[in-house]
Amino acid sequence: MRFPIYRPRRLRRTRILREMLAETVLTPRDFILPLFVIHGRGVENPIPSMPGHAQLSAELAASRAVDAFKLGIPGVILFGIPEHKDEVGSSALDPDGPVQRAIKEIKDRVPEMVVITDVCLCEYTSHGHCGIIKKGDVDNDATLEVLREMALSHVRAGCDMVSPSDMMDGRVGAIRGVLDENGYSHIPIMSYSAKYASAFYGPFREAAQSTPGFGDRKSYQMDPPNTDEALREVMLDIEEGADIVMVKPALAYLDIIRRIRDELGYPVAAYNVSGEYSMIKAAGQKGWIDEEKVMMEVLVSIKRAGAGLILTYFAVDAARILNG
Ligand code: PBG
Repeated sequence: MRFPIYRPRRLRRTRILREMLAETVLTPRDFILPLFVIHGRGVENPIPSMPGHAQLSAELAASRAVDAFKLGIPGVILFGIPEHKDEVGSSALDPDGPVQRAIKEIKDRVPEMVVITDVCLCEYTSHGHCGIIKKGDVDNDATLEVLREMALSHVRAGCDMVSPSDMMDGRVGAIRGVLDENGYSHIPIMSYSAKYASAFYGPFREAAQSTPGFGDRKSYQMDPPNTDEALREVMLDIEEGADIVMVKPALAYLDIIRRIRDELGYPVAAYNVSGEYSMIKAAGQKGWIDEEKVMMEVLVSIKRAGAGLILTYFAVDAARILNG
């Protein structure tokens, strides 16, 4: 059919028609809200580069989780800012650490909420790298040992899912092994499978105080030009037992999300990262863009690309709009 018989504008004429024909519909169920948890009580340190977000002590993080759940957001992902950092990130294993405490507080107040934890050492090491340093480089296999213990510690504290984000080789298998050996074969793993060495993580590193003290993360995170490599990373993680695979960042990598969905048919999560959030917030505050409209457009693009789950700092703002 061709013009003038076919006129695509007919189906765009009214708002209701456009809504009826929408191929992708966002709901608050698509979102996972990231929270930064810190030791102490009554602590709320706003994060300047991420307006609307703060480092929160466990009980305040739990209140945010309750509010998010009421809006229909089914899950949170927790990042910890520990009191002490050392060379090997030992405070990551503290049963009384901020993440472990926040898990308990959230599960006490909203037992149905899916509490996910980020499993990575960068917030806990004095040098800010995602693993144990030997001879100036991150030692893969030594790091796996600590990651196993860290994941187990989170699961023992009561989390529902663990999410390794360090990009060490073999970490999904290592974590799956330790969980299964300890009676946690029912706990899923959401793996940051295709995580790129990206400049979009800048504000997060301020929020989590995890900027590497020397060098960069290019020896473990992926190189932005690559897409076949992303597929290999994802396949390896699936073979090692990953239940959900993640692409991160989201916006500059929508093609990767689509390719994984098309070729593998596994649940794909996408992380709409800190820099993607802060750019929109900053331009919105300057009046250069309409923040709400850009936010919704960006979120729908991530879902349209194939992401079934979207980790986003916009979760609460977007859920409010979607709930009307
Ligand atoms: C930990 C981790 C990072 C992010 C999530 N988990 C930072 C990094 O790899 O440097 C980034 C999230 C964001 O920017 O919102 N490794």
